[in-house]
Amino acid sequence: MISRQIIDDILARTDIHGLISSYVSLKRAGSKYSGLCPFHSEKTPSFTVYPDDNSFFCFGCGIGGNAITFAKKIENLDFEDAVEMLARRVGITVSHEDDLKYEAKRHDKKRIYQMNADAARFFNKQLFSDTPKSRVALEYFTKKRELSLATIKHFGLGYAPDDFGVLLKHMRSLGYTEDELISAYLCARSKNGNVYDVFRNRVMFPIIDVSGNVIAFGGRVLDDSKPKYLNSADTPVFNKKRNLFALNYARHTCSETMILCEGYMDVIALHAADFSNAVATLGTAITPEQARLMKRYTKQVVISYDTDEAGRAAADKATKLLEEAGIEVKLLKLPQESGAKDPDEYIRKFGRDKFRAVIEDSRTKFNYYFERSLSRHDIGVTAEKIKVINEMCELISTYYSVAEREVYAVLVADKLGVDKANLLSDIEKKVSKRNKERKYKDSESEKNRMLGIGDKVNVDYAKAPSIAKIEETVLGLLLLFPSHRKRSLQSSVPMLTSDDFFTEFGKKVFDFISNAEDDAQFNILDNFFTPEEVGRITKIKRDRMILSDNGDKVFDDAVHSLREQVKKQSLSNKKIDIGQLDDLINSMRKSN
Ligand code: GTP
Ligand code: MN
Repeated sequence: MISRQIIDDILARTDIHGLISSYVSLKRAGSKYSGLCPFHSEKTPSFTVYPDDNSFFCFGCGIGGNAITFAKKIENLDFEDAVEMLARRVGITVSHEDDLKYEAKRHDKKRIYQMNADAARFFNKQLFSDTPKSRVALEYFTKKRELSLATIKHFGLGYAPDDFGVLLKHMRSLGYTEDELISAYLCARSKNGNVYDVFRNRVMFPIIDVSGNVIAFGGRVLDDSKPKYLNSADTPVFNKKRNLFALNYARHTCSETMILCEGYMDVIALHAADFSNAVATLGTAITPEQARLMKRYTKQVVISYDTDEAGRAAADKATKLLEEAGIEVKLLKLPQESGAKDPDEYIRKFGRDKFRAVIEDSRTKFNYYFERSLSRHDIGVTAEKIKVINEMCELISTYYSVAEREVYAVLVADKLGVDKANLLSDIEKKVSKRNKERKYKDSESEKNRMLGIGDKVNVDYAKAPSIAKIEETVLGLLLLFPSHRKRSLQSSVPMLTSDDFFTEFGKKVFDFISNAEDDAQFNILDNFFTPEEVGRITKIKRDRMILSDNGDKVFDDAVHSLREQVKKQSLSNKKIDIGQLDDLINSMRKSN
């Protein structure tokens, strides 16, 4: 456990606006800041940062708390690692000398990094070991994929021999245990207990994080067998949803534009052709976390996926996620007549200069979808032309700016030979329909929120929203004011106990408050509650904070009415307790 003093010190030195603005672009609004929430997708900002008490809260998804909550959630860290990260930011060294659990965890991670680095060296050495099979692997890279030795070295590519135990044997000789190798996903244990190498007869692609650690591997078969690629499963140092292949190199050259590819080989071909700003996802479709990661490094992403239908569908998804992350999107269109199915093939066929031209010719989202619609429908046929009109009106109606909508409407009107005013009026109809639907959805979810329907944090809320609301008043006052805590908890006969609370969540929060040694305990809510729960506690506090009357009378009345209501509720809801159940069963037996 990190000492509370140090945590308080770290938090005091952390400027929450500075921290959050390195992930989210924030705009000042009076004494607070707002921006698009990094934890859920939204078009209008409901994410708010309050420098006055160093907190944040999103009215859309309910996540909120202090800098620790933010770090935990955005970097997917546990409490200690989040504190550690904040400590590094403000130049404080945290000592974990007495913390055995933390030390064990850190030790395990360090061992996996070492194992991966050793395995990468081993695979690379195997590639040049000049055996019949390794020669096939090397030729696969140099001949079939036309990679230079420099590129192979640059990416640390390798070969996993066609054997169930060579890596195991080598790694054991370096002092790693079987269990350690399994934890790194380099080896696995079969049903009958034998430990064996996971990657066999595959060319190997080490995946390296931005600090230069080998965190995982991808391995490709040399022929057409399946699965084509095998990737490390998640380990304590690897989460495939939160990393990108080659970001360790791309980060130096991608501040303006990044190229997003589907495959490792595309990225390698691009880097070899001097497009060192290319990255790829790790064997899965792009995730919101990866989109946000890219946002931290670049302004614009050129999606350069495969030309097949799967690639197009993946590009649709990527476009949506990247735009939600606030990234400007462009879409690469490999010329149909080139016959190349992905960037790697295109470069091998036509060279880097032609590819550069294709990159420069990449389409904006509007042009890309307009062209796609035109290529799918024959506008010489009336019914088809109407389809194009509808598709374009739908797309244009998603743009926020009226001026932008007009510009696109003109392009479509000109191309299709229809009246611009009519087109615009169709588009505006769709815009207002969209807005109405959104308003309706917002008001529905606001209503549900007030009734506690679908409340995942406080699951008892919906059972009696009015009581839960009073409970929140009491908790809010307790959280905000030491004076209320003192009066109600520290007298010889405490004014409140957890039995006075109605919901399980309310009881849990109350227990935390009444066990808190001092105010600083409220800094480490994250050590006891999930980020969602911390969000709710933050909201309960802020809801109270904006009210003017928080005096003793308000508090006493709320406590009184909470007690009354809880009593009434428990009378009306009286369930049969175990004793009564026994009586009931006995009486039934007698009557039989
Ligand atoms: P080649 O050029 O044939 O080496 O492949 P590619 O890099 O063009 O890859 P492809 O378009 O077939 O797939 C794109 C990416 O999807 C690959 O780089 C892998 O990350 C992933 N992938 C492909 N096949 C598999 C598979 O069988 N299993 C898993 N887990 N991932 C795969
Ligand atoms: Mn390919």
